[in-house]
Amino acid sequence: MPSLFNPLQLGSLELPNRIFMAPLTRARSGRDGVPNELMARYYAQRAGAGLIITEATGITREGLGWPGAPGLWNDAQVDGWKIVTDAVHAAGGRIVAQLWHMGRLVHPDLGGGQPVSSSATTAPDFAHTYDGKKPYTEARAATPADIGRILDDYARAARNAIAAGFDGVQVHGANGYLVDQFLRDSANFRDDDYGGSIDNRIRFVREVLEAVGGEIGMDRVGIRFSPNIHVQGVEDSNPIQLYAELAKTLEELKVPWIELREPDKVTSSGSVPTAPVSPAMRRLYSGKIVINSDHDWTDARGRIAEGHADAVSIGRLFIANPDLVKRIALDAPLNPGDPASFYSGGAQGYTDYPALTEQEAA
Ligand SMILES: Cc1cc2nc3c(=O)[nH]c(=O)nc-3n(C[C@H](O)[C@H](O)[C@H](O)COP(=O)(O)O)c2cc1C
Repeated sequence: MPSLFNPLQLGSLELPNRIFMAPLTRARSGRDGVPNELMARYYAQRAGAGLIITEATGITREGLGWPGAPGLWNDAQVDGWKIVTDAVHAAGGRIVAQLWHMGRLVHPDLGGGQPVSSSATTAPDFAHTYDGKKPYTEARAATPADIGRILDDYARAARNAIAAGFDGVQVHGANGYLVDQFLRDSANFRDDDYGGSIDNRIRFVREVLEAVGGEIGMDRVGIRFSPNIHVQGVEDSNPIQLYAELAKTLEELKVPWIELREPDKVTSSGSVPTAPVSPAMRRLYSGKIVINSDHDWTDARGRIAEGHADAVSIGRLFIANPDLVKRIALDAPLNPGDPASFYSGGAQGYTDYPALTEQEAA
């Protein structure tokens, strides 16, 4: 029976434990999307995680609509990330970059022009801009030329990630962003090879994975999905069938690991989950499955021991507890987090959460 503290191999990654830091947008980069020393300190403090998955990181200006979020499309950003990966490695950790194209969730004010999506749709609610929240604008449907260019953008970002010293990448296929806008049928109304049937809706993510894996080797690639929740206007009418088919594609492509944001109760943002897809995926996919969302390690430990999953990723508790893995091992008390500084600010609420003292850890 594997425990949270057993090592785990994910493709080329050798991990000392199965408690991952989930991707967390913290918006501490500049407008140029260049990571900095403060971010290096934050990530290095969390190097005890079996694996750190970075905050979502834009593959292009077009794909990045979050003020203060980092990018991976130019040399300055690569140099900034090198500071981060060096600091994490020096602290004994491992880190992969989450590659992000937000699709229709990018406001033109961020400088990328009219947003692009699977179809000409407008996302619900409000976009983030440097001047506060504004209504989303209508996206245009990606042309075949756009799709080819975006695949190249993914490949370049993956190449840049390796140049920046990352141990691999995770494609962001969750939470209503571009990959999800192709995948799930509430946002994809195309009538060409990229829309309609499940096979067609899977085509874009398949091509993204082929582009990224072709560039850096599939043994360094993972992907995240949010299969059983409605997020940012994206959901599916038949998630189990869709993700079962997707599992076969991931198996065929030899993608070594997936992370599923798959809550089993109403989430903190009020989303009501449908039935989990992970049992169906588990039967068809031999790669490793990382579960996430509103888990504490009691239920995660059980699901891993029973073989339903291989690892757990933890988000909010990692914000407030840089040494979370040690605290779990010692059953030590946890710092409370301050949601007001989750998505913005400087060092406060970012690098000032205390680790256990030597006495407390003894
Ligand atoms: C502040 C914050 C930022 C987040 N940023 C990202 C992100 O960049 N990419 C992503 O895939 N999910 C993101 N999420 C979702 C988390 O990775 C995770 O799925 C969610 O917090 C549930 O896990 P938890 O209950 O362990 O916090 C974010 C969540 C929070 C609270």
